[in-house]
Amino acid sequence: MLGPVILAASRSDKMRRFVSAAPGTKQVVDRFIAGETVDQVIPIVKDAAAKGLEVTLDVVGEDITTVEQSHAARDAYLELIGRLEALGLGERAEMSVKLSMFGQALEGGHELALANVRPVVEAAAAIGTTVTLDAEDHTTLDSMFAIHEELRKDFPQTGCVIQAYLFRTEDDARRLAAAGSRVRIVKGAYKEPASVAYQDKAEIDKAFVRIVRILMAGEGYPMIGSHDPRLIAITQELARQAGRKPEEYEFQMLYGIRSEEHVRLAAEGHRMRVYTAYGTDWYGYFMRRLAEKPANLLFFARSILTK
Ligand code: FDA
Repeated sequence: MLGPVILAASRSDKMRRFVSAAPGTKQVVDRFIAGETVDQVIPIVKDAAAKGLEVTLDVVGEDITTVEQSHAARDAYLELIGRLEALGLGERAEMSVKLSMFGQALEGGHELALANVRPVVEAAAAIGTTVTLDAEDHTTLDSMFAIHEELRKDFPQTGCVIQAYLFRTEDDARRLAAAGSRVRIVKGAYKEPASVAYQDKAEIDKAFVRIVRILMAGEGYPMIGSHDPRLIAITQELARQAGRKPEEYEFQMLYGIRSEEHVRLAAEGHRMRVYTAYGTDWYGYFMRRLAEKPANLLFFARSILTK
């Protein structure tokens, strides 16, 4: 019930101002956001490496409104990649980007986003790593998949995300699996209408399993983005049935969520990557994490009231 309300609030400027200014917000934000600067996130990458974990780094930000902000997004990722290279951490960390942070929704935004993501993908490849394009709301996906296809002509390792809640996704999974892509499958985190997406949790879970089956049987590299213990167990079984070795797929979870499970799966011999978001424009990302689990909202409300 609360999830859709929080997701609607995640796009409200008024709520953004209220939440950002509320006392007690920072304490809750810190659980999900690894820091505000590159300097703060680097020790987290090192710590993850020491635990046998890999990371994907996400500079938070989305729905920008000016071309200058698109250039700034590119520069923030280039700064990050420069630091990873200098520290020899390139192969431990890949990057995730949201195309709306690169101006995808502006006039001429498809071309702008492609032009500014390309140097990021190029710089990542130069230090031995790669970039994955996150999936945002369903209206952005045709453009995202077109940019993914374009980037893959020069950088075939470029990944993309598909969302189990969308009716279209099984077809996308078949196409991407046949193309040999790196594909992250997630349940989906946006508020989507019943005309395009399953609304029922059990239906979404069933679709997730069908899609994992397609990816495991295909030519690509499946990345399973979920904290759901049941889906993780099913994935392990589907990988076994498909004859995939542990290095032929990976699990991914979010920084701050089920951290003990990150280490447990890595210790079992699985490749485990922790999606680590950092930066100052954390509002949209943070609100989606609140929407996923109502208990987070209670915790958040309590921390505001007790400050
Ligand atoms: P589910 O929501 O059923 O959660 C299973 C269990 O995990 C819960 O019972 C709880 O214990 C724990 N949990 C899950 N979320 C939690 C939270 N916020 N706080 C505390 N505990 C929580 N979405 C999208 O639309 N586009 C994208 O590009 C991405 N990218 C992405 C990358 C990675 C690595 C992950 C793990 C997830 C995403 N997502 C995403 C988000 C995804 O769509 C989904 O909203 C969340 O992963 C929650 O779904 P679960 O599969 O974890 O199951």
